[in-house]
Amino acid sequence: MSIIKLDNIVKKFYIGEPNELEILHGISLEVEEGEFVSIVGPSGSGKSTLMNMIGVLDRPTSGEYILDGINVGEADDSELSEIRNQKIGFVFQTYNLIPKTNALKNIELPMLYAGIERSKRIKRARELLDLVEMGDRDKHLPEELSGGQKQRVAIARAMANDPAIILADEPTGALDSKTGRLVMDLFHKLNKEKNKTIVLITHSIELASETDRIISIRDGNIIDVTDNTKNRDENIKKNSQFNTNNTEGGNE
Ligand SMILES: Nc1ncnc2c1ncn2[C@@H]1O[C@H](COP(=O)(O)OP(=O)(O)O)[C@@H](O)[C@H]1O
Ligand SMILES: [Mg+2]
Repeated sequence: MSIIKLDNIVKKFYIGEPNELEILHGISLEVEEGEFVSIVGPSGSGKSTLMNMIGVLDRPTSGEYILDGINVGEADDSELSEIRNQKIGFVFQTYNLIPKTNALKNIELPMLYAGIERSKRIKRARELLDLVEMGDRDKHLPEELSGGQKQRVAIARAMANDPAIILADEPTGALDSKTGRLVMDLFHKLNKEKNKTIVLITHSIELASETDRIISIRDGNIIDVTDNTKNRDENIKKNSQFNTNNTEGGNE
């Protein structure tokens, strides 16, 4: 079953009358439950705009989006934020953790919004910290963590409400290759062991080669879709070996 089904999605931005800028020109895309896909393309090609559509952070100008069987176009804003909170975990290049708030509380936040009681929140947040191997950093503030550690906390937070989908917009973009490797391994683990559907936006051809399907975007259009399921596991192995041997530039 397709958990994400975009049909002819157009996104225009109004940049003051009478100008409008069409950024996505009619994107159609389906992602299966449990699939790990990557989106690649040059800067400015519309990747983040597309991610905002998929994550219902913003609405398309036209076109239809069915998310896990729900027609998103028919939902009002409060329904949309509930859909986001329940179904989607976001991971960003710049982590977007709440400053002056420790790792554990950052992870609790999406559960707080979901109305989960405190003791359950804390228990789940601790389990998630363990899952990302950050169990001993619960009291640390974001500013006291390295980039890779911040991203692991952000991934734990993305998992808080056990979403079906993880959307990651250049999650390794600010990390050195060794740390990026750890983050990528975490995504593989969530995909394989927790059956999360993952959409990864990346500039790295190497990381894209570790996903089931590579979707190439240029100037607001999908220009190529490559089925990569046969090569995926071998590429993971190859890239892991390379990065284990290469310890240069690690900051952890
Ligand atoms: N809110 C906005 N208003 C006007 N233009 C925007 C807005 N958001 C993005 N754009 C434009 O859309 C294009 C695609 O941006 P983006 O989706 O961020 O690309 P990518 O993530 O591939 O680098 C860019 O030209 C950008 O300037
Ligand atoms: Mg972007």
